[in-house]
Amino acid sequence: MRYRPLGRTGWNVSEISFGAWAIGGAWGSVDDTESRAALDHAIESGVNFIDTADVYGMGRSERLIAQLKRDHKEQIIVATKAGRRLSPHTAAGYNEANLTAFIEDSLKNLATDCLDLVQLHCPPTDVYYRPELFGFLDRLREAGKIRHYGVSVERVEEALKAIEYPGVETVQIIFNCFRQRPADLFFEQAAKRQVGILARVPLSSGMLTGKLTRDSQFAADDHRNFNRHGESFDVGETFSGVDYETSLAAVEEIRALLPPNVSMAQFALRWILMFPAVTCAIPGGKRPSQVADNCTASDLPPLSDATMNAIRDIYEKRIKAGVHQRW
Ligand SMILES: NC(=O)c1ccc[n+]([C@@H]2O[C@H](COP(=O)([O-])OP(=O)(O)OC[C@H]3O[C@@H](n4cnc5c(N)ncnc54)[C@H](OP(=O)(O)O)[C@@H]3O)[C@@H](O)[C@H]2O)c1
Repeated sequence: MRYRPLGRTGWNVSEISFGAWAIGGAWGSVDDTESRAALDHAIESGVNFIDTADVYGMGRSERLIAQLKRDHKEQIIVATKAGRRLSPHTAAGYNEANLTAFIEDSLKNLATDCLDLVQLHCPPTDVYYRPELFGFLDRLREAGKIRHYGVSVERVEEALKAIEYPGVETVQIIFNCFRQRPADLFFEQAAKRQVGILARVPLSSGMLTGKLTRDSQFAADDHRNFNRHGESFDVGETFSGVDYETSLAAVEEIRALLPPNVSMAQFALRWILMFPAVTCAIPGGKRPSQVADNCTASDLPPLSDATMNAIRDIYEKRIKAGVHQRW
């Protein structure tokens, strides 16, 4: 496992870190014993950074991570998120009283007195135009409730606006072979300000593992079933907002580019790591075998220019029209 500096935080985090949404919920049924085994395997593989949120299983994901931290002596940095428990999810709901309550709950779930990193959880765009809210996050940091803060965004424009606030140290954004726009302008701007970048949905909800087919079935409580058209939250969070059939066709073209003995998940993650502005990818892992597969990506040699160009061509030809100007 290799490590990269996370913006200005002073932390070096594993290039392949751990996305802890699925072990909380919304991905079909998960078993805590298996989730814990996946987390243990991640730590044993050199992962030292975990992304979670209060809303993932309403504390289930955070509580599993608290147990993990209790049982391992290695440093484990935890990024959580706040805001998505708001119902309705409005810009006005992002206020001091609500955020204070959410953060107090995360402190309890994570069994700590100071959160490592708190990210606003894909708030409505208007939130980025409320400097007083970022001032409040500065005060939370001064009060010792949080060490660092950042944002998780839907759109590149929100990311560009967010990093105008000097206290924003990290941005989490969808970045994968099917969502390439962040690399155009945002990465350069983030690097200039030394902002850490967490690449989320790196496997396009599992599509970029190459295992899905036209006949794949998803449980009723899996967002790949219930949010296929954005019924519950932003459609971009499910298969990156790319139509399923279009994704399958693009995956077959990518398959032809795989070097020998490299899985498609490893390849898709290695592609992300080719961008130096990215701090880490945070693939979701439900079981140890997935974590093992994903962590190997950090040890692979760089992809060739020809391969990078081929991925860009597949994106231009099949994917770009549907997503590039939407997020
Ligand atoms: N709004 C936000 O801030 C937000 C939104 C989305 C995600 N995130 C964060 O980003 C993380 C990653 O994104 P994601 O979980 O949406 O998507 P992802 O990492 O692209 O896909 C994860 C899913 O792919 C499958 N998988 C993972 N590794 C595999 C492997 N090696 N082989 C085969 N299948 C594999 C697993 O599901 P199956 O086994 O069921 O196929 C897993 O749950 C999340 O866990 C969360 O921390 C944040």
